[in-house]
Order: sequence, then C-alpha cells, then structure tokens
Amino acid sequence: MSLEEQEKEKIYSVLDRIKDPEIGVSIVKLKMVEYIDKTGSTLSIKIKLTVPGCPLSATIEKDIKQAMAELGYEDTKILFGFMTKQELEMVKKEIFKKDQKLPSPIEKYDKKAIKNVIAVYSAKGGVGKSTVVSMLALISAAMGYKTGILDCDISGPSITALFNLKKMASATKENRIIPAEYHGIELLGIDMLTSAETLIWRGPLVSSAIRQMYDDTEWGNLDVLFLDLPPGTSDGPLTVFQAIPVDMMVLVTTPQMLSQTIGRKTLAMADILKIPITGIIENMSYFICDKCGNKHSLPDGEKIKELPIIARLPFISSFSVVDGLVIDKETKESLMNALVLMIKR
Ligand SMILES: Nc1ncnc2c1ncn2[C@@H]1O[C@H](COP(=O)(O)OP(=O)(O)OP(=O)(O)O)[C@@H](O)[C@H]1O
Ligand SMILES: [Mg+2]
Repeated sequence: MSLEEQEKEKIYSVLDRIKDPEIGVSIVKLKMVEYIDKTGSTLSIKIKLTVPGCPLSATIEKDIKQAMAELGYEDTKILFGFMTKQELEMVKKEIFKKDQKLPSPIEKYDKKAIKNVIAVYSAKGGVGKSTVVSMLALISAAMGYKTGILDCDISGPSITALFNLKKMASATKENRIIPAEYHGIELLGIDMLTSAETLIWRGPLVSSAIRQMYDDTEWGNLDVLFLDLPPGTSDGPLTVFQAIPVDMMVLVTTPQMLSQTIGRKTLAMADILKIPITGIIENMSYFICDKCGNKHSLPDGEKIKELPIIARLPFISSFSVVDGLVIDKETKESLMNALVLMIKR
C-alpha cells in the first residue's frame, strides 16, 4: 500500500466520523465523498450533496475543515457537486437496509419558555390563515401578551410581506437564531434567514427547516407563539403537529362550501394527531357596505357544527399591519374574545 493510499485511508476514517447534519449518517457511508486529492500542501475534497442547492453545505464544509485541521491539513479546499437521482436512490436503499438504528426523523420538542403554542390552520389554501395570524398577534401584543409568530410555510412564507419587514433574523455566536421583531412581536420565517447565515439554516427539507426554526431559536419568555401553517395535509402541517408541542389549534374557514368541506378534512387530521381545537375563525364572513353601512353576509355552504365559531371577520377592503392595524371595533373585539379562549396559561 503506497503512502498516498495510507494517507487517504486515514482521511477517510476521519471523514467517516462526520455526519450529514440532515440525515445523521456518516458522509462516507452516504457515499458523499467523491474524491480526495492533494496538490502541494492543499488538500481537496469533493463532496456530493444529496440535494442541489442544499444550504447545509456550509455546515459540512466547516466540519470537514475542522477535522482536517486536527489531522494537520491546514489548507483544505472543499468542492461541491450533487448526487444524481439514481445515486441518491441507491444510497437510500443501502443505508436504510443496513442501518436499522437511524434516528427517528420526528421528535417532539419541549415547550421551552413558551406558555401557549397555537397553530392557525386550514388544509385549504388562501382562506386567510396568515392574515388571521397577523391580526391575532397584533391584538395579543396590544393586550399585553409577549407574542411571537413562526411562519411554518416554507414554500410560500407571508409574514415578512404582511409586516413589511425590513430587518431579518440574526444569530448568536453559538448560531442560535434571533427572530426579527416588529413593535415587540418576535417574527420568524424561512425568508428571514439569509444565505449569509446558512449555519443557522441547515435543512433543505420542509420538515427539518420547520423543526430547526422552532428549536434553534431564542424565543425567550413568550406568552403565545402563533404558528402560521401552510395549506395541505402533507409534510409541513404534519411536522408542525408531530414535532412542535402545539397546545391547540384554531381552524380558519370562509363561508364557502369548498372551504367548509376541506375544513372537515382538517378536523379529521386534528383528531388523528390528537390536537385539541378551540374553534373556528370564520374569515371573510360578511362585508360592510360602504354606502348603506349595513352588514351583508357572504353566500355560505354547509357549516361545521362540531366546533364553535369563536370569531367572525369581515371582508376587509384594505388590509395592512404597517403602522397599526386598521380594522373596525367589532372585529377587534371579536378577536380579543377569541384570544381569551385561546390563551390559557
Ligand atoms: N378578511 C379578509 N378580507 C379581505 N381579504 C382578505 C381577508 N383575509 C385574507 N384576505 C386576502 O386573501 C388572500 C389570502 O390570504 P392569506 O395569505 O392570509 O391566506 P392563507 O390561508 O394564509 O393562504 P395560504 O394557504 O396560501 O398560506 C390575501 O390576498 C389576503 O390579503
Ligand atoms: Mg399563508
């Protein structure tokens, strides 16, 4: 065996101790090390990432450079490529067959110092979940509750836009996330974590991103953390209900038939996952005519009778949270009453 091969083997055995931060398995076992080369004093290691554009590359790079420095290689260059679909499938098959002790992908986190974790959800898209979360947060903060919002919608985050946020989240020296802030309300969404802070945003997958945003964040002592959920019943909502210690859920619906039908699907999901539901916030329930000043109901479908309606919100023609929420007194009172039911501790 040549010296070069011995050297390579030593490097491989050290690399074998480095785990992919997402999957929790050695990067060597995952066949992520494409080659190791040495020119002069520069050591080059090429890593094939499992997902293109994967932000966890920064963590892998840091871990490898640190391990190589400990081996005496001060000048280590990491190059990145990506696995093909076939390569990824093969790796998955091998690893899952051989290694039965893989960590469970979903673990339930603890409550931290957050008194109430409230999920605002509907399997139906566009019913106003994000809008309702924003209103609830502004009113709960005005009522004196220390309030936060976690935007769990990874593919379509809305909170940054709704609050017209300019300031992004930041990080502590230990790479813990510090949420952005709007008049004392803590706000965090995936779009508030910039690429310059890739160490605080490791997972390309929806599930790991949501878990990391909840668990790696310095939320402090919050009275209430509202979770703005994405629509659907797949990865995003499932992760929230399985990994985050949700105290209760409110269901957002609109009076229309389709929204009510999908509302029922949401109920079934909550039942399976054993998440208590406080009630329904019926959004765009009516509108106030600006000519006659009367309330007009919007056409509705079959109601969900199993749950109480804890607030009815009008159709608001211009909605903005910037510099205060402009909503009528009745809506504000309706949301305050709903919050009293929702905030238990
Ligand atoms: N009460 C309301 N009056 C008028 N427009 C509203 C109201 N609530 C929400 N909207 C509008 O409806 C659209 C969808 O609202 P929003 O993004 O809050 O829904 P969502 O349920 O969070 O959507 P998604 O499922 O995509 O996350 C937005 O354009 C929003 O401004
Ligand atoms: Mg939304």
